[in-house]
Amino acid sequence: MLSQQTIDIIKSTVPVLEQHGVTITKTFYQNMFNEHPELLNIFNKANQQRGRQQTALANTVLAAAKYIDNLEPIVPVVMQIAHKHRALGILPEHYPIVGENLLKAIKEVLGDAATDDIIGAWANAYGVIADVFISVEEDLYQKAEANGGWRLFKLFKVAKKVEENAEITSFYLVPEDGSALPGFEAGQYITVRAKAPGEEYIANRHYTLSQPSNANEFRISVKREDACDPKGVISNYLHNNVNEGDVIEVSAPAGLFTLDNSDNPVLFVSGGIGVTPLNTMLQSIETGRDVTFVHTARNENVIAFQEQIETKVNELNGKYRAFYSDSEGYITKEVLAPYVKENTELYVCGPTPFLEAVVSIAKELNIPNDKIHYEFFGPAMTLKAFANA
Ligand code: HEM
Repeated sequence: MLSQQTIDIIKSTVPVLEQHGVTITKTFYQNMFNEHPELLNIFNKANQQRGRQQTALANTVLAAAKYIDNLEPIVPVVMQIAHKHRALGILPEHYPIVGENLLKAIKEVLGDAATDDIIGAWANAYGVIADVFISVEEDLYQKAEANGGWRLFKLFKVAKKVEENAEITSFYLVPEDGSALPGFEAGQYITVRAKAPGEEYIANRHYTLSQPSNANEFRISVKREDACDPKGVISNYLHNNVNEGDVIEVSAPAGLFTLDNSDNPVLFVSGGIGVTPLNTMLQSIETGRDVTFVHTARNENVIAFQEQIETKVNELNGKYRAFYSDSEGYITKEVLAPYVKENTELYVCGPTPFLEAVVSIAKELNIPNDKIHYEFFGPAMTLKAFANA
C-alpha cells in the first residue's frame, strides 16, 4: 500500500514528467544499456532508434502516475504490455534493473528538483507497478505452458516457405520435437528470436499468426523490409537466410487483438501487411456473421491473400472491396460509409497513419469507441483520434 504522502508526491510530479518524460526515458535507456548490454538481446534496436519505445514507456509511466491510487483504468494497457513482455521472455529479475535505472535517470534529468522525497515516492510507486506486471506476467507464463504449450522459446522447423507476392513470404512452422501445438485465438502473434548475420545482438520480432489455429503448424507471413539497417533485421533474415528444414526459436502465441464473439456485423479494414491478423480472424469465422472486408494495398502487385479473402467472404455471403492507394489515393469516409451498419464491430490494422485515418473516419461515422478495434505494428501508442477521448 502506498501512503497518501507518496500518492500526493507522485501525482504532483505528473507535470514535470510530461515536460521531461521522453528525456528521462532516453537517459534511462542509455544508462541501462551501458550497464547491462546483454539487455540489447531483448530490446528492439529499431524501435529505440525511432524513439518509439521511449514514447511507449514514457506514456505508461505517466499513465501510472495519474492513476497511482487506482490502477484499475490502466489494466487494459498493462495487459497488452504484459502480453508483449511474456512473448519476449521478460522475467521478475529484470524489473529491479529497470527500476534502478529509471530512478537514476529521473535524478539525472531533474537535478536538484528531484528531492529524496520525490525519489523515495517513485521508488515505492515503481515497486507497486512492477509487482502488478510481474504477477500478471507470471499468470500469462502459466497459461502459455498449459495445454501442451511452453514458457519461453521453443525450436520450430520451417516445414514450408511460400512466396505470397513480391514482398510477402509465408513460413509454415512445426515444432522440432514433433509435439502438437496449443490452440490460439485468431489475431494473436508469435515472437521469433534470432541473431542475424553481421548483428551483434539477438533480435526479437512479433509476427501475427496468418492462418487459424490447428494442431500441426503455425504460419507467419513476413513482409520484406527495405534493406537498410536496422529496419527489418529479422524479416529480411527470414527472407534471405531461413529456408525449408531450418530451425528457428519461437515463443508461444500472445496478444489481445482478437475477434469478439458476438454476432454483430464485422467490418475489417486492412492496410498493407496489416491484412495478416484480419485475414486470420476472417478465416476463423464459421457462419452467421455479416462480414465486409475492405482490403487496401498500394497496388495489385503487392496485395496479399486476395483470393483466399474473396473466397471466404463469398462463402459467408459478405462484401469485399479492394482499394488501391496508388490509383485511388487515401481512404475516405465515402469508401467506408456504405459498410457501416448498426452495431458494426470495426477491426483495423495497418501502418500508423492509415490507422489514424480509418479511426477518425470511424468516429465521424459514429462508431462507438468500444466497437473500434485496432492494432499497431511496433509499440502501441495512443491514436490522435483517441488522445482526448
Ligand atoms: C513497470 C515497468 C515497465 C513498464 C511500465 C514497461 C512498459 C512497456 C511498454 C509501454 C512497452 C511497449 C508495449 C508495446 O509494444 O505495445 C514495453 C515493451 C517492452 N518492454 Fe517493458 N515495461 C516495464 C518493464 C520492463 C522490463 C523489466 C523489461 C526487461 C528488461 C522490459 C522490456 C521490454 C521490451 C524488450 C519491450 C519491447 C519493446 C521493444 O523492444 O520495442 N520492460 N514495455
